[in-house]
Amino acid sequence: MDAKRSSVAPALLDWYDRHRRDLPWRAKPGEMPDPYRVWVSEVMLQQTTVATVRPRFTAWVARWPDVGALAAAQEAEVMAAWAGLGYYARARNMHAAAKAVAAAGGFPRTEAELRMLPGLGAYTAAAVAAIAFDERTVVVDANVERVVSRLHAVATPLPRSRPAIRIAADMLTPDMRAGDFAQAVMDLGATVCTPKRPRCLLCPVRGWCDAYATGEPGRYPVKQPRAERPRRHGTAFWLEHGGRVLLHRRPPRGLLGGMLALPTGPWAQEPPGFANAPGATGWRMLPNTVEHGFTHFRLRLALAVGSGAGHEEGEWWPIAALDGAGLPTVFRRAAEALRSGR
Ligand code: ADE
Repeated sequence: MDAKRSSVAPALLDWYDRHRRDLPWRAKPGEMPDPYRVWVSEVMLQQTTVATVRPRFTAWVARWPDVGALAAAQEAEVMAAWAGLGYYARARNMHAAAKAVAAAGGFPRTEAELRMLPGLGAYTAAAVAAIAFDERTVVVDANVERVVSRLHAVATPLPRSRPAIRIAADMLTPDMRAGDFAQAVMDLGATVCTPKRPRCLLCPVRGWCDAYATGEPGRYPVKQPRAERPRRHGTAFWLEHGGRVLLHRRPPRGLLGGMLALPTGPWAQEPPGFANAPGATGWRMLPNTVEHGFTHFRLRLALAVGSGAGHEEGEWWPIAALDGAGLPTVFRRAAEALRSGR
């Protein structure tokens, strides 16, 4: 225990200084981190991979280079710029937090104060405080959970092991360079201590790793099997008039809240057919469907095509410019299937 406490952090920081990934939101050695870039990247990186985030982050900070620019943007633009990244409440909260930060004249500098901004949960507040402001916080994401579970060969399955993992992560976190330490664990988790087939021979801390000592490090973290997600059914409606298609803005709260979308009826246990179809005219179903996985259920969308009179409620979007509408992935895929099948 004491050997881990005193040895793991220095070994990881030393490894990080030599092997850290070159990522666009990271300050170069000797540079001051920019809290806006750290915050944007940490919000994007929750639930989304580094490979996906990289180009999206670069485009985002080119468009809104600082928190004042983001605060001054229209919410609809911000939502559209998030299209494809999923978990859209993150974008709406980010915009609200940007306004609060701009109004206050800058970012709060402590974990406790950051936590009070819209959408800044325990993880984001800890990560931004450590990486941008060098506060000694305990940062726990899925990489940290995996690395710590292995170092301690935690037998309790996730998510029940979370409190114990947090205590162990706290014990391992150094007083200095907590932000680099957190990012070192993330880089180790992404490149060496990977979910499948960890590359232990490259690992700077295998000498203190209880899972490595068992000979089967890949068995950790032990996970509670996830329950099958239920399936729901819906219909996406493609209503066309004069080269435009009807889009609806979804209600601000709830799934895909605030995003532009194809009109849909209810999402139900059974296929709802033409229920709540916009307009009244001759709807026709396509033979294919589109599937999408949300966190708590899978959705199968039937695809219906009709032609409107052009005065139905909503936004009539030019079909040729549909890529610029910022549709969330499920509707982008439904629209592609509808356009090619109509
Ligand atoms: N995942 C989440 N935050 C990260 C960061 N700062 N660096 C690398 N991977 C991350």
